[in-house]
Amino acid sequence: MEKESPKNSVLSKFNSSVTDKKTPFGILDCIGNTPLVLLKRLFSSASIQLYGKMEMFNPGGSIKDRTAFNIITKAIESGEINGYTTIIESTSGNMGIGLARICHYYGLRLILVTDPHINPLTEKILKTFQAEIVKVHQNDGMGGYLKSRLEKVEELLSLESNSFCPDQYHNFNSPLAHVETYREICESLGKAPDYIFIATSTCGTLRGFAEAAAERNEFPKLIAVDAEGSVVFGREPNVRIIPGMGASRPSDFLIRNQVADVIHISDRACIEGCQMLLDLESILAGGSSGAIVMALEKMLPNIPANSTVVALFPDSGERYMDTIFSDSWVEEKFGVVNEMV
Ligand SMILES: Cc1ncc(COP(=O)(O)O)c(C=O)c1O
Repeated sequence: MEKESPKNSVLSKFNSSVTDKKTPFGILDCIGNTPLVLLKRLFSSASIQLYGKMEMFNPGGSIKDRTAFNIITKAIESGEINGYTTIIESTSGNMGIGLARICHYYGLRLILVTDPHINPLTEKILKTFQAEIVKVHQNDGMGGYLKSRLEKVEELLSLESNSFCPDQYHNFNSPLAHVETYREICESLGKAPDYIFIATSTCGTLRGFAEAAAERNEFPKLIAVDAEGSVVFGREPNVRIIPGMGASRPSDFLIRNQVADVIHISDRACIEGCQMLLDLESILAGGSSGAIVMALEKMLPNIPANSTVVALFPDSGERYMDTIFSDSWVEEKFGVVNEMV
């Protein structure tokens, strides 16, 4: 790929942002400090205190703003990224949106490798933030396109001499972003919760919570919520259509004994969980939040009375109007809507 010479204005945008100590991050300062909301209506008959950590309040609408921010700012601080660096990553969703805003803010060129499953609205948002989109079309036979996307990333990195791959599957600044997420929860509650329900894909969130809790000598039970058809916890790969949760490759962050329990949730049940969250709590959230709700329902009989339980809701439902929240889409994929279990 031809390397474009960066315009002076782009470099000055990078330099002034990085050296402006008064308001170092501008809009990026809005990442994190998301609300923790008491959920009184969901499972109201259970004698637990249930809270939702509302990651859709991040400016990009998801928890991945935190990951993207921590990875990029740490790489700027360490000198791995300068004003001429091209950022190249494989992502079809929330991580892409997080990276797109941050790279736009710093005037960094961003290439995102995606696949035909990308949500059309997400693609439009990414392009609006001037991210360049490269699509792969070769299905990897593991229920997705991940292998082909990663090969394309390698190819692009080898063509760009000054390039940086955030590599959300391996970069430890991903889990480290959630030391802060965990701290916020404890600060809001005034104590550590007894249970935290966490949706998994790269397991960056899960690992960050586990490390942060251990560091503080606190031991909440971390419940991992994964997609049926995801290989993260050693299952056979299968087709998954709800984005965000699950993976077609094992996680390098997962340490199995940091997890108290694992609950697998089907795509269809994710949708039911999203509807419950909307109907009972007026929260419009994405598929992995629906999975968290269904996992809570499964686990409730095993949770002792008076426990404090946190459900981490990773993203907003707004980008899923034509899928999860569309009756015709649900009917097409799963059959009659009101026959859903
Ligand atoms: C909506 C949503 N839920 C859950 C996850 C899983 O997070 P992690 O990759 O930290 O395991 C992601 C990750 O992209 C996500 O976008």
